[in-house]
Amino acid sequence: MPQRTLSIIKPDAVGKGFAGAILAEINKAGFRIVAIRKQSISKREAEGFYAVHHERPFFDSLTTFMSSGPLILMVLEKDNAIADLRRLMGATNPANAEEGTIRKKFASSIQENAIHGSDAEETAAFETGYWFAGYELIQG
Ligand code: CMP
Repeated sequence: MPQRTLSIIKPDAVGKGFAGAILAEINKAGFRIVAIRKQSISKREAEGFYAVHHERPFFDSLTTFMSSGPLILMVLEKDNAIADLRRLMGATNPANAEEGTIRKKFASSIQENAIHGSDAEETAAFETGYWFAGYELIQG
C-alpha cells in the first residue's frame, strides 16, 4: 500500500543550491512527488510546525533557522515512504549519518541538516495538513 510522508528541503540546502541534487536522490529512490512548493515561512509558522519540540533548548534557534530563507515543502509517496525516506535521509546529526545518505552528502550540522521527513503516520498526517490543503493532494 502506498504511504505518504511530508518532507522539507531546509533553507541551508536550498541556499547552497542542493535542492536539485536532493530531488534527484528522492526520485532515484522511487518516491513520487504528490505536491511540491517552494516558499519562505514565518517564525510563527515554524513554531507551529515544530510545536512538539517547544520545550527543547534548540527550539528558538531551530525556528529562526527554518524561517531564515526559502525552503521546499513536499508530500512524497511510495510503499513504506516514512521509513524509507528516513533511511535515505540518514541520522539527524550528519556526523552520525551513513555514507550515501542525503544528510551525509548535503548537511552541515545537527540543526542545518538539509532535509526533514515525518517520523510516523500520525506526524505525517499532521505535517501534511499543516502545509497542504486537500485539493493539492488529489491523485494526478
Ligand atoms: P528535523 O528532522 O526537522 O526535526 C527536528 C529538528 O530539530 C531536526 O531535524 C534538527 O534540524 C533540529 N535538531 C534536533 N536536535 C537538535 C539539536 N540537538 N540541536 C539543534 N538542532 C537540533
